[in-house]
Amino acid sequence: MTMRTDYCGRLSSNDIGRTVTVCGWVAKRREHGEFLAFVDLRDRTGLIQCVVDHAHEIRSEYVLAVTGVVRPRPDDTINADLATGDIEIGDASVKILSQSDPVPFQIDRAAEVDETLRMRHRYLDLRTQRMQTNLRRRAQVNGAIRSSMESQEFLEVETPMLIASTPEGARDFVVPSRLHAGTFYALPQSPQLFKQLCMVGGIDRYYQIARCMRDEDLRADRQFEFSQLDMEMSFADGDDVREIVSIAIADATEVVTGNRPGSIPSMTWLDAMDNYGSDKPDIRFGMQLTELSEIFAETDFNAFKAPSVKGIRLPGGGDTTRNRLDQLTDRAKGWGAKGLVWIKVGANGEVNSPVAKFMSESEIAGVLKELDAEEGDICFIVADKWRRTVHVLGLLRLELGRPPVNEGGYNFLWVTDFPLFESISEDGSPVPAHHPFTMPHEEDISLLSAKDDDTEKLLEIRSQAYDLVLNGWELGSGSVRIHQRELQQQIFELLGINEEEAQAKFGFLMNAFRYGAPPHAGFAFGIDRLTALLSGEENIREVIAFPKSQSGADPLTEAPTEIDPGQLNELGLRLLPPVT
Ligand code: AMO
Ligand code: AMP
Repeated sequence: MTMRTDYCGRLSSNDIGRTVTVCGWVAKRREHGEFLAFVDLRDRTGLIQCVVDHAHEIRSEYVLAVTGVVRPRPDDTINADLATGDIEIGDASVKILSQSDPVPFQIDRAAEVDETLRMRHRYLDLRTQRMQTNLRRRAQVNGAIRSSMESQEFLEVETPMLIASTPEGARDFVVPSRLHAGTFYALPQSPQLFKQLCMVGGIDRYYQIARCMRDEDLRADRQFEFSQLDMEMSFADGDDVREIVSIAIADATEVVTGNRPGSIPSMTWLDAMDNYGSDKPDIRFGMQLTELSEIFAETDFNAFKAPSVKGIRLPGGGDTTRNRLDQLTDRAKGWGAKGLVWIKVGANGEVNSPVAKFMSESEIAGVLKELDAEEGDICFIVADKWRRTVHVLGLLRLELGRPPVNEGGYNFLWVTDFPLFESISEDGSPVPAHHPFTMPHEEDISLLSAKDDDTEKLLEIRSQAYDLVLNGWELGSGSVRIHQRELQQQIFELLGINEEEAQAKFGFLMNAFRYGAPPHAGFAFGIDRLTALLSGEENIREVIAFPKSQSGADPLTEAPTEIDPGQLNELGLRLLPPVT
């Protein structure tokens, strides 16, 4: 290195006596008498205090090269909060390499400023410890995934960004073609179809750290652009895929946290829904949904004459205020419940509930027993169709019990045996839960012909699709794919995609399958989500160098922007007046 001899944060008492040069930004300047100043210099490794004379022109965020001798700090000035807090650079001479205007926010207080301001000056925000650490973690995750997949003999293949539409079910971003005016490319929602083509192409084990683009509403765990570890393998089933992904996930987690997670447990989708009311259960805490239907099988309480009655218990929740309970009831109704029953447990099995009078003593006793309720607890009960009961209680469970994002460790979970179809649309055709290339369970294939006599039966078909869940976040999904054209055509027909449409949309894949498609299966997990959780961040923006804001705009570059009429002409496009 010619400009500097050392990084600020890497100096230590071992360097005492050395003459060093460090470069960085002025984090803080404190005058000490007329001629002396303390300057905290920052680079990506941390801070070092420099004792400088004639620091009058030096301001915050100036870029300096400081040369001086490393020396111990006087005992009473040691800063235990700083890694380099026991030393300083003394007798320092300063070279100003670059000046800075007054900054719109102090770097070490970025967490307190309005997020738009942080994003508009993201280059300043990137100087914060938080962003430096998060981006380093992200790079570590990528590096660990790469070497994990390489060592498991996966071949990295890059797939195109300008493609025909993919089937992930979000809205495509489109790019107009100049050479073929009037036509459009789609940006990939994932490399799904190409990785399947790679299997037909004999790649055998494919992976890619893939950028994906989806035009969907942004949320804490969703951006327009995101990255996946995308993989696919031939002559393999779901167990093979889960084993390989588990290793990659463990490698990535270990490199960031220092701890290797144990083997990842599995749960079927049905159990996940029944016990947690979610297909992505947060298993950091209990409060499972408990079946109460039998207790109310012959009840006189009209509200509970429903196919599914279930309850949850909040330990120690007996002091929940009436206001809060009314608020929770409104929430539950917002989630689709007809109502929410609560029962507080007092001393000697006494209960307090507005509907106690509608329930028999044995019903109440049964509830308390099934829920293991003790003095000081509160129980909540919902009765409805099964799907609605578990949905509402699942959300209530999260509302009442979910720990903050950075607590409770890393609880990975495989959820398997998703249903093939998630619902029946109004025109009577089923809606696929994953994408239309997902293989049904062997044992359930016969149910595919149920369509004509009993559409509801279709919802019972299990697929060979699986998700990876971490602390209640969906981290990834995958499936065994259909590799036989006949079965694929049958599924398309069920979905109401006729042959012409199938040919137009996925013809290239169907054609490829005519020439020897190996059985194959794959998976993709979100690197932004994994890194956010490993960093204790609630929003994936915090682990993305240049993210979009909630509204999908970029306050830094001001994208999306208008383009000039010449460009539009060239593309053969004319804008309609804005819709008001
Ligand atoms: P899926 O659509 O479930 O599957 O996506 C896989 C994972 O990608 C992440 N992800 C996102 N992350 C941030 N912002 C988004 N908008 C976003 N959308 C998805 C999630 C998600 O679990 N091709 C299939 C995989 C396969 O079948 O092999 C696919 O893309 O972590
Ligand atoms: P109602 O019979 O509608 O007056 O409801 C009596 C109580 O039962 C109210 O506290 C409702 O919130 C609750 N309740 C009504 N329907 C349900 C239901 N399906 N599940 C749980 N609680 C309900």
